[in-house]
Amino acid sequence: MERLTVELGSRSYPILIGDGLLAAIGAHAAPLLKRPRTMIVTDEHVAPHYLAVVEASLAGAGIAHSALVLPAGEGTKSWDGLARLTEWLIGEGVERGDHVIALGGGVIGDLVGFACSIVKRGCAFVQVPTTLLAQVDSSVGGKTAINVPAGKNLIGAFHQPALVLIDPTTLATLPRRELGAGYAEVVKYGLIDDVAFFAWCEDHGAALLAGDSAARHKAIAHSVSAKARIVAADERETQDVRALLNLGHSFGHALEAETGYSDRLLHGEAVAAGMVLAHQFSAANGLCSREDAARVRDHLASVDLPHSLASAGVNSDGATLSGHMAHDKKVRGGKLPLILTHGIGQSFVTDEYGLDRVAAFLDGNAA
Ligand code: NAD
Ligand code: GLY
Repeated sequence: MERLTVELGSRSYPILIGDGLLAAIGAHAAPLLKRPRTMIVTDEHVAPHYLAVVEASLAGAGIAHSALVLPAGEGTKSWDGLARLTEWLIGEGVERGDHVIALGGGVIGDLVGFACSIVKRGCAFVQVPTTLLAQVDSSVGGKTAINVPAGKNLIGAFHQPALVLIDPTTLATLPRRELGAGYAEVVKYGLIDDVAFFAWCEDHGAALLAGDSAARHKAIAHSVSAKARIVAADERETQDVRALLNLGHSFGHALEAETGYSDRLLHGEAVAAGMVLAHQFSAANGLCSREDAARVRDHLASVDLPHSLASAGVNSDGATLSGHMAHDKKVRGGKLPLILTHGIGQSFVTDEYGLDRVAAFLDGNAA
């Protein structure tokens, strides 16, 4: 088992990574609990595979528990989902000292985290991520939120978990498309500031996606260690450090909006195409070499991830796409900060490039 720490002073917490850890959750959770009682929240795809393992482990450690199984999918991260969850927690007699277990992907993690930030003015929670995206990104860092009609993740809070417990064997049941979407976020860490890790992805990405457990373990540990470092440096995204985690997200956001935030394009798939576009836009503006931009595109294409507007299934014009970007929640004083790059592993934040230039670039990229 590997143990990392997110260093946040009195709110620091461990990240445990290991095959089979789900069956040991009772032993790892017990020292955190003020009373031997917890509540598990999961979804209907995850529950049939993993709920019984978690329940047995808690029972073995003498921890009483109850479980709520919510519908799977982004729709659960909503006012209705939040109301249902918070009312269930209160009905179960949740106390401020309790730790709620979020067993699932980013949807369950974000929803449970937000519910725990507000129920009885705040209780603790444990992230047990079961998708690759959640294992390498969303379970660490304390961003929690729900979606509202005006946009995704617009209502939320920073609320750090007390423990993140990652069992990579849960990826065995994850659909291949979801695995690919999570893999885009793995590649992102190489592109941000770690060219050697990007090269590792080029060499091992296909094996990871095919099920190689050593490659999965290495990718998860390397990614969460990078994320832990970034979160420790800039927990609330005020210093242009954590913002680097949004590489590919502004372009990707336009693609997601254009495809209706639907199964046509998963978030990680949009990020993959968005990262290629960010590199190509950087190259078009003389910031990065065309060779680096091509290398990023070629790797993502080689693992069947979207790597262009066309492969993302989008043929809209630049004005339409940049119009979506104008509504990004990261807009500051009317300007959208973009994550651009001087080359692989050399990304930076800038608001020097207006959306008119982005629109012209996207028009030239439509083929
Ligand atoms: P998800 O939670 O919807 O999971 C994807 C699908 O896989 C769902 O159908 C789920 O039921 C299923 N699933 C999960 N684990 C499984 C397993 N082991 N076996 C079989 N099926 C399984 O989606 P996601 O990609 O994990 O997360 C996306 C969400 O994460 C979005 O809401 C996004 O906004 C959020 N997010 C948050 C952060 C953050 O920092 N908080 C970062 C990135 C993304
Ligand atoms: N996934 C972006 C962040 O955690 O900041």
